Amino acid sequence: MVGTGRDVRLNEILSALSLACDLGSDFPMEKALRNTLLAVQLASELGVRREALSAIYYIGLLRFIGCSGYADETSKIFPDDNAMRGAMAPVDFGYPVDGLRQAATLGRGALGRTRAIATMAVRGKRLGEEFQRADCEVMIRGAQRLRLPPAVARGLGDAYERWDGKGGPRGVRGEAIEMSARILAVAHQAEIHFRIGGVTAVRAIIQRGASGWFDPEIAGTLLTHANRLLAPLTASSVWDAVLDAEPFPHMYVTVSRLQDIARLFGEIADLKSAYTLGHSLGVANLAAGAAVRFALPDADVEVVRTAGLLHDIGRLSVPTGIWNKPGPLSPPEWDRVRLHTYYTERTLSQSPLLEPVARIASLHHERLDGSGYHRGAPASMLSLPARILAAADVYQALTEHRPHRSALDQSAAACELQRAAELGAIDRQAAHAVCEAAGHRIGKRASGWPARLSDREVEVLRHLARGRSEKKIGELLFISPGTVHTHVVHVYEKIGVSTRAAAALFAMEHDLLTR
Ligand SMILES: [Fe+2]
Repeated sequence: MVGTGRDVRLNEILSALSLACDLGSDFPMEKALRNTLLAVQLASELGVRREALSAIYYIGLLRFIGCSGYADETSKIFPDDNAMRGAMAPVDFGYPVDGLRQAATLGRGALGRTRAIATMAVRGKRLGEEFQRADCEVMIRGAQRLRLPPAVARGLGDAYERWDGKGGPRGVRGEAIEMSARILAVAHQAEIHFRIGGVTAVRAIIQRGASGWFDPEIAGTLLTHANRLLAPLTASSVWDAVLDAEPFPHMYVTVSRLQDIARLFGEIADLKSAYTLGHSLGVANLAAGAAVRFALPDADVEVVRTAGLLHDIGRLSVPTGIWNKPGPLSPPEWDRVRLHTYYTERTLSQSPLLEPVARIASLHHERLDGSGYHRGAPASMLSLPARILAAADVYQALTEHRPHRSALDQSAAACELQRAAELGAIDRQAAHAVCEAAGHRIGKRASGWPARLSDREVEVLRHLARGRSEKKIGELLFISPGTVHTHVVHVYEKIGVSTRAAAALFAMEHDLLTR
């Protein structure tokens, strides 16, 4: 990835998108950036060679892109899956009682706390194993799709391993764990505990974990140079420092590759709930198709398409228990939902390269009559691209199942969109163009499935991606559970994954959910 005049720095794009993934893990924004800065400095102190430094840098930026990989499943046990991730992040599972103590923070009132502890005691081990596997598979697949060096995917795959072998998903120990992952593990915990209690707290956790959780040499190096290595974390923002800290050679991507990156992160946002799989790509295709009908310049069409891919990146900030709630939302829950567009804007506008995308994407829930969110902006503030995106989002969402309603067929969705236009909420011409664009999508037909999947296996994969059990899939396809299981095994073998999240990513990557 050598830079030219048309290329953009990869680190700037990934640093911006990492902000939304921080929120998906209940961390403050710039958590991944702070990890990255500390890990690179720690690695330099350890004398790690330059090529490996680059891998550590990108592992740091991508460390939380698996945040939605097990969100849907987690929310069935702990509805606030974000809080669960945040609560468990600082736990040393060499001391199981620490996990139970943290679980107590997930319940409200004495009864809620007791329930949370009991749930973690009974289901925590399995939840943790599946959570690690899904998270790692999403991270590995993400690094591969970004075409980063294999060392990045290897390091991300070992993100949850422990020096004493009690981690996962491989359960390897000592130097069998990638060096990059061992360094990141120390940096990750040091960053968390520095926020909690400064250098003293960092020393306490790193010392305690130095013979079990962490590589003793890496832990010792951090302890020796703690004051100096941790000093940059006192800055109010580490954005500039992280961009400057990229080891040479710097990585670039062509402007045209931005679409691939945007698509990946849109899919990560869609993974937050089984109801939204494929949503971002659907919106992007509709919005771009409508933008073409308005004869917008090619560059503007591409910005609209990218805004479609990334419009819901702020969704990661909202617990899946809220997205999946079938009943009415409480006022505090509505506040969380209304803020997702703010976080889309906050994430994308961090990078000047994505700023034009942010301006459109953050307006996708605004309405011409001022009834939308998060600004309640009037029509005069809504540009044509923003109006197109809003219409595309409404249409696409109507064709998808939601917890409180079934999916509409395409003609019913078009009627609903036209009605919203007549009521003055959605731009009439934008609605018309989106409906035309949707009409051109009808009849799209596969000419063969990827990974030599059969028609039946693709059907099974679609249900798997949406989180359905083998029993439920059998009912829907009128086949026995044993036959379903055989298909499931074949699907996983053919696409080389072992979790629903990775299967869903594969399905979205190959557009198997809609065609
Ligand atoms: Fe949205």
